[in-house]
Amino acid sequence: MLGERGSPPRRYTGAVELPPRSITAEEYAPFSLCFEAAFGIQPTEADLELWRKAVDLDRTLAVFERDEVVASADSYWFDLTLPGARTLPVAGVTRVAVRGTHRRRGLLTALMRTLLDEAHGRGEAVAVLTASEGAIYGRFGYGLATVQASVELSTAHAAFSRPVERTGRLNQVDTETARKVAPAVHDRARRRQPGDVERQDWYWDVHFADPHWAREGASGLFHVLHESAAGDPDGYAAYRWKDNWKRGNPANEVVVVDAFADTPAVEAQLWRHLLDLDLAAKVSAWKRPLDDPLRWLLADPRRLEVTSVRDDLWVRLLDLPAALGARLYATTDRLVMELSDGFCPWNQGGWALEAGPDGPGRARRTGPREPADLRLGVAELGSLFLAGVRASDLARVGRVEELTPGALARADALFGPVGGEPAPFCRSGF
Ligand SMILES: CC(C)(COP(=O)(O)OP(=O)(O)OC[C@H]1O[C@@H](n2cnc3c(N)ncnc32)[C@H](O)[C@@H]1OP(=O)(O)O)[C@@H](O)C(=O)NCCC(=O)NCCS
Repeated sequence: MLGERGSPPRRYTGAVELPPRSITAEEYAPFSLCFEAAFGIQPTEADLELWRKAVDLDRTLAVFERDEVVASADSYWFDLTLPGARTLPVAGVTRVAVRGTHRRRGLLTALMRTLLDEAHGRGEAVAVLTASEGAIYGRFGYGLATVQASVELSTAHAAFSRPVERTGRLNQVDTETARKVAPAVHDRARRRQPGDVERQDWYWDVHFADPHWAREGASGLFHVLHESAAGDPDGYAAYRWKDNWKRGNPANEVVVVDAFADTPAVEAQLWRHLLDLDLAAKVSAWKRPLDDPLRWLLADPRRLEVTSVRDDLWVRLLDLPAALGARLYATTDRLVMELSDGFCPWNQGGWALEAGPDGPGRARRTGPREPADLRLGVAELGSLFLAGVRASDLARVGRVEELTPGALARADALFGPVGGEPAPFCRSGF
């Protein structure tokens, strides 16, 4: 990557204040504007107020030049679900931006340095993020751990292979009613899904405020709840309506924003409802897992067209014993790894992971007579962490090296999905 087109990267020589520091409440607006401008957004006062609650001032980082914010970064502190249905609080890195006039001079590098050092200093074991571009974060030790798919399905070809048994009751509800019950249903769902994260109050504030910029030309949100026969809410769907009357005939699109439930059977009922809405020709969703259960419900699975597959969650391991010790593993084994970590050298060196399905793993420094089974970088280990990437796939492209014969197959088994869990997937953007 070059600094300006055709020239090598430059280091900043101007009057910026480094290292980056956290902002005060008064600095919230310029901090936010730095980030929004980098994405071409000009927020209203109301937009800024809506996001204020999402920002924990102590976790922000800003680079100032003459009292102006020229670069920003921030992180949430929320739960990530790990293989084995364990949860771990992690740093959810967000609002990363450098002013257009200040790029390719090392300011992102300075932000990442301080952010990861501070997170490590606070005892945070893992940082995660979703990236605006896939080429940015590998250099800082983030490994791609989950992918997401956009899908489209013609309602004319959306029959299920077997009838859905109707249980309980579906009802379209207003925003206030949905706000009362959807968060609890989500909270149960995200704890069962490795790779998913907690939705904090700020997330629901933005979701239910449903600002115009979130609609992308579609309608506001419609909310649908499912209640069990006993009257307990156990499923939630949110969708938008995109108008399209083709020569007077209905060719409208239902854009699904959320569809989750306590059980697969209730989730299937939500999908049946979304696919059967009159006047809709197409149902689409922007963020779905690649192993979408919807495909297995359909009589004609090819009709669930994947229109794009993208990198989603990137994982940066900061504290190996705490991170590797927080999840469960699919097999019982002892795997010795020789790890490189140029950006966070405290992780560098030999690690033995003793782990299994019945309790948290244990990672410890290796002794002198413990030869390594695998040689890999911290980004590669981050990719394996959520059980969505196999060491053998990374080895085929030279990113993991097998030092003991058979170690790759053992690593695939050890780090793989635990107890029939789905592949890791993150339902929420942050
Ligand atoms: C992405 C962004 C934050 C990079 O900031 P920056 O200060 O220019 O980055 P740095 O100068 O510290 O660059 C660090 C390294 O990353 C590389 N890099 C920076 N941006 C990159 C990009 N978009 N794609 C690939 N490489 C990139 C640099 O070339 C540099 O490489 P080097 O270490 O080999 O010299 C900035 O371009 C930006 O704000 N973009 C728009 C908003 C955005 O995408 N934010 C990220 C949200 S996830």
